[in-house]
Amino acid sequence: PDFDLVIRNGKVATASETFFSDIGIQDGIVVALAQNLPAGAREIDATDRLVLPGGVDTHCHVDEPRAPPTASADSFASGSASAAAGGTTSLICFAKQGPNISATDAVAAHHQRARRARIDFSFHITLTDPTPEVLEQQLPALVEAGHRSFKIFLTYSGSRITDGQALRVLAAGRKLGALVCIHAEHHELIEFYTEALVAAGLTAPKYHAWAKPMIVERECVHRVCALAEALDTPIQVFHVSGAEAAEEIARAQDRGLKVWAETCPQYLVLTEQDLDRPGFEGAKFIFSPAGRTTADQEALWEAIRRGTIFNVTSDHAPTRYAGPDGKLAFGADAPFTKVPNGVPGLAARLPILFSEGVAKGRIDLQTFVAITATNPAKLFGLAPRKGTIAVGADADIAIWDPAKQVTITNELMLHDNDHTPYEGMQVTGWPEITLVRGVPVVEHGKVVAEEGHGQFLARGPYDFIAPRGVFPTPFNPVDRVVVG
Ligand code: URP
Ligand code: ZN
Ligand code: ZN
Ligand code: ZN
Repeated sequence: PDFDLVIRNGKVATASETFFSDIGIQDGIVVALAQNLPAGAREIDATDRLVLPGGVDTHCHVDEPRAPPTASADSFASGSASAAAGGTTSLICFAKQGPNISATDAVAAHHQRARRARIDFSFHITLTDPTPEVLEQQLPALVEAGHRSFKIFLTYSGSRITDGQALRVLAAGRKLGALVCIHAEHHELIEFYTEALVAAGLTAPKYHAWAKPMIVERECVHRVCALAEALDTPIQVFHVSGAEAAEEIARAQDRGLKVWAETCPQYLVLTEQDLDRPGFEGAKFIFSPAGRTTADQEALWEAIRRGTIFNVTSDHAPTRYAGPDGKLAFGADAPFTKVPNGVPGLAARLPILFSEGVAKGRIDLQTFVAITATNPAKLFGLAPRKGTIAVGADADIAIWDPAKQVTITNELMLHDNDHTPYEGMQVTGWPEITLVRGVPVVEHGKVVAEEGHGQFLARGPYDFIAPRGVFPTPFNPVDRVVVG
C-alpha cells in the first residue's frame, strides 16, 4: 500500500475552507490530500462524515495534586480518553507550583503523571509564588525545555498572587517569549462579599454567583489588560464569562493590544440559575467565574463571531460529587465556600460547540474549527503541526457524524468523574473516530489506544506572541527589573 491509512470520501474542513478529499497518512503525518488516492494499509470510509482537525484544548486541569476529598477526579489515562471521546487530540494542562514544590519540581512531577496520556499534551506552568529564584533561575530553563506559557491566578487563597507579583510574571513572559494566561477576578471584593453572605447565613450553592458577580470579573479583566499594556506583554484572559468582560476585551483589542480571550462551553449553555437546582444538585454548577445569564450567552456567541473571543476551552476541573461512602464528598450542606470550583468538560466541549454553534446556525463550520483547534494551536505555538488538516501536519483528526443525535450522559464522557453538568443535554453531531498521529484513540465510544501513546509537545519560540514594542513611555522598564 502507498499509505499507512487513507480516510476516504470525507468532507474535510479547516478554519478557511471545506472540501471533499481523501487523506493519505504515513508515519502519523498527513502526506496527501486529494481525491481518489491509491490504497492504504488501512482505510476508513468517511462518506457522509465531516473530517475535522482534532480539537486542541488549551485549558484543562488534569491530575493536579489537591487534598482529599476534593482530589481531582482524572488521571492522564482517563482525562486523555475523555478528551479523545469528544474529538480532542491535544491538551495543554497545568503543572502547578505549590507551597512545598518548586516550579521545576512541579513540572518534573507532572511529566511523570502525563506518561499515561493517550493523546498529545503540553504544560502551562502555574506560578503561585514567583520569587526571583523562580523567575530568573527556574523559568528560563523550563521555557527552554518547551514549557512556553505561564498561568497566574489573581483570586483563590493559596493560589492568588498580587498585582505586583503579576507584573513580574508578565515581565518574565515578555523576556522569555512565553504567553501569560490569567484568571482575572477581584480577590478582595470576592472575600468581602463572601464574608457578608456567610454572616447573613446565605451559603447555598446559588450564593456562589452572588459572591462572584460580573463586576469582580469586569474590573479585573480591565486591570489585567492595563497591566499587559503597561509592560507591553501579550496575554490570554481565561474563561470570559459574559457581556461586560467581553466588552473589556474588545476595548483592549481596539487599542491594538495583543490580548486574546477564551470562553468555555459552561458559559455558553449554563447560567447562574443552574446553581439553584433542588437540594445540593446546584453544587455541580459551582465554577469560577460563575455562570451568568442567557443574555450573556448570546453576547459570548457574538464575541466569538467578531473574533473578540479567540478560542474555546473546557477548563476541565473535575471533582467527584460522592465520596467513597456514596455520600457527598464535601457534605450535603457544605457552604458554597467549601465546594471545589470547576466542572468536567473535556469530552463535552466539541459536541456542545458543534451542536449549539454550527447545528443551530450561530457560527459556521470554519469558525468552529478556528476556535476549537486552529486558533489555540497558533496562540500556544503548536501550529502548523497541530490544529489543522494540511500536508505535513500531524494526522490528528476527528471524523464526525454531523447528524447524529446524542443525549449526553456521564458514561459517554469516558472521564473518571461521577457526574457531568451536561447530563441529559441533547446534541446534534458527534465524533465517531478520533485519531492522534494517525492512530485511533477512541472509536465509536471505545478507548482503543494504549496509555502512553500521547507525546509531550515541547513548544519553541514563535512569532505569534511577539510583543508590539510599544510602552507607555520611551523607556523599556522590563529589562531592568526581571533578569532572565
Ligand atoms: O472553577 C474553575 N474554573 N476551576 C478551575 C480552576 C480555574 O479557575 O480555572
Ligand atoms: Zn509507516
Ligand atoms: Zn481559572
Ligand atoms: Zn482553569
